[in-house]
Amino acid sequence: MYYKKISCVLVAAAITVSGFAQPKKVAAPQSKMDQFVTNLMQKMTLEEKIGQLTQYTSDMALTGPSIRAGYKDDIQKGNVGSIFNAYTPAYTRQLQEMAVKNTRLHIPLIFGYDVIHGHKTIFPIPLGESSSWDLAAMEKSAHIAAAEASADGLHWTFAPMVDIARDPRWGRVAEGAGEDVWLGSQIATARVKGFQGAGFDGTTIMACTKHYAGYGFVQGGRDYNVVDVSQRTLWETILPPFKATVDAGVGSFMTSFNEIAGVPATANKWLVNDVLKKQWNYKGFVVTDYTAINEMVNHGNVANEKEAGEAAINAGIDMDMQGAVFAKYLKQSVSEGKVKIQTVNDAVRRVLEAKYKLGLFADPYKYCNEERAKTEIMSTANLDAARDIARKSLVLLKNYQQVLPLKKSGSIALIGPLGDDKRDMIGNWSGAGDWHKSVSLLEGMKAVAGAGVEINYAKGANFTDNKAIVDQMNTQGGDLVTDDPETLLKQAMDVARKADVIVMAVGESQGMTGEAASRSDISIPESQQRLMREIYTLGKPVVLVLMNGRPLTLQWEDAHFPAILETWFAGTEAGNAIADVLFGNYNPAGKLTISFPRSVGQIPVYYDMKKTGRPADPNNKYSSKYLDIPNDPLYPFGYGLSYTNFSYTQPVVDKKAIKTTDKLNVSVTVSNTGNYDGEEVVQLYIRDVVGSVTRPMKQLRNFRKVFLRKGESKEIKFTLTNEDLKFYDANMKYTSEPGDFKVFVGSNSRDTQEADFKLIP
Ligand code: NOJ
Repeated sequence: MYYKKISCVLVAAAITVSGFAQPKKVAAPQSKMDQFVTNLMQKMTLEEKIGQLTQYTSDMALTGPSIRAGYKDDIQKGNVGSIFNAYTPAYTRQLQEMAVKNTRLHIPLIFGYDVIHGHKTIFPIPLGESSSWDLAAMEKSAHIAAAEASADGLHWTFAPMVDIARDPRWGRVAEGAGEDVWLGSQIATARVKGFQGAGFDGTTIMACTKHYAGYGFVQGGRDYNVVDVSQRTLWETILPPFKATVDAGVGSFMTSFNEIAGVPATANKWLVNDVLKKQWNYKGFVVTDYTAINEMVNHGNVANEKEAGEAAINAGIDMDMQGAVFAKYLKQSVSEGKVKIQTVNDAVRRVLEAKYKLGLFADPYKYCNEERAKTEIMSTANLDAARDIARKSLVLLKNYQQVLPLKKSGSIALIGPLGDDKRDMIGNWSGAGDWHKSVSLLEGMKAVAGAGVEINYAKGANFTDNKAIVDQMNTQGGDLVTDDPETLLKQAMDVARKADVIVMAVGESQGMTGEAASRSDISIPESQQRLMREIYTLGKPVVLVLMNGRPLTLQWEDAHFPAILETWFAGTEAGNAIADVLFGNYNPAGKLTISFPRSVGQIPVYYDMKKTGRPADPNNKYSSKYLDIPNDPLYPFGYGLSYTNFSYTQPVVDKKAIKTTDKLNVSVTVSNTGNYDGEEVVQLYIRDVVGSVTRPMKQLRNFRKVFLRKGESKEIKFTLTNEDLKFYDANMKYTSEPGDFKVFVGSNSRDTQEADFKLIP
């Protein structure tokens, strides 16, 4: 098998990965825990052990294709170790009592849930949050999510998703931190720290790194599809954020649905046992994704579910999410010698250890806190934090002739299906979030603009008039409303004609992104395009406010409208946050963490591409280019404007040559040359000019988010070390190579200035 052959090389390669902090101890004293768990396991029957490896969804929410009707019976019989999709202190207490009071060994359940970007107070979708480039803010939002979730009976979130994603057709780009490995690793670490805090004191929850691995590389951007990547792509691009979370002490991992090069991740012994558990010395447990074991029968790597279960547990899987495969077949597999009892014991120990660390043996009801739920959930402080990070997540893509910020006088037409909408504000995977409490853009604009501005709203268009899409979405839990398109358009034109400025709130409905929401055409849906074209004919200043969970293709919009603000799905406080930016109460500073292609045909397009042997040359027919569009994206990675302007000096390096033990200081002066105080994300990239294997044109290695008053200049200093120059060489050894390097500093991955240095032996 492919991975077996290369595993020795990869073991060596992985061990040499450095630059990460040592694993943090989140556990209570080892010896006591060991003793406790050993003692408990000695009393357990094989059936009881298998129960601990089994997880079922409750009927409170559905995040996959099936529900097991008898899950409560299973709890009372000790056949379940974990329940997901159940929350509130009352409900989790009720289920916990069933487990603790009715089972022989009184082992508590662990309650998991998709607390992806907030529990009840919803923060921007992760792709949006990542655009803030504010690690402290992302840690804080995860911390608040954990505080609310833990008050609401939950112990465990299925987050962060750390899949590097470069195909915006894949709806799940919304759940990750974008395309960059270095930034993605930093964000993954921040989010784990945020969820788990300094320890499990009852106000934090266990994180779960997902989806291990390769899920962001599904072919064609089609969800659940096949993945086939090289070992180099795995090590260079896919695995680093996963490793970063191991180093941050994450408590659990989830495997992905996909196969990689013929082996489903959930049966991938090399990936789970060899790399994660052995090489990385990961001590937590591994849960599958929803029925991923059963789905191996469809993949075709096994003949039946029993074999699938054997493949999974022998690969290192510890918990079966919803599939009931371990529950049905594991006992038999053990008796037939297909699965060793030691393998089962290792899995059980990992699950019980997690429960111990969470403090559930000491107090199974530690996380059912009615009082805290009342005061903590959606508190003013939490809503303020949501507004703050929402503002930080917005990316100004265009602002020709300073159309923005808007004046707090005159009349504004707010047009578009997302203008007076609450449900979509909180985005997909907003779990327990109550959209009724979210702030629509219309509400936010009215509140922030005050009485001096007249704001009139018209929907203008349906999200889409494509009946097939509407029907598909609505029969699968969606809530798309369709009104008569002609009436909507007429109302919008009437409102728009009377206004000084038009704000158009367009994009996707939340259900058009996220899981199982791949799109082959990532433009703004046709009904809204028609509306935009009609509004354009009025010749008035138009500000496009985009809401969406993925990069969109925006060539027409960019060519025709003066101002474009990307707002993602910004959460409970979306309307207020967007209005703060529109009216200049907050100067936008977000930067894209994923490239926006010009057209679907460019996908994948990402900034750390390699050059090819025939780099694009407009004067050379035989060079790597398209006939119809340039190679570069419309908006590159790291891009985002401000209401002010920043200028950069050329970076200066303090040495022309360094040894591996040296540090290189890079400095640059950034000046605020515009008319507003503002923040800038100063980005540093490197290029290894010649390598034993080809190297990307640019790779992010550091950034600094700085605040500069109008007219102010600051010198920004970065330090590069040998760690920043390492990569997997031709022998898959993680090392640096002597030779020429370039360092680039600038305001995005495209607009940079450079300096050179050498690494000498
Ligand atoms: C399936 C999704 O892929 C995963 O991300 C999620 O955590 C589980 N369902 C549980 O809801």
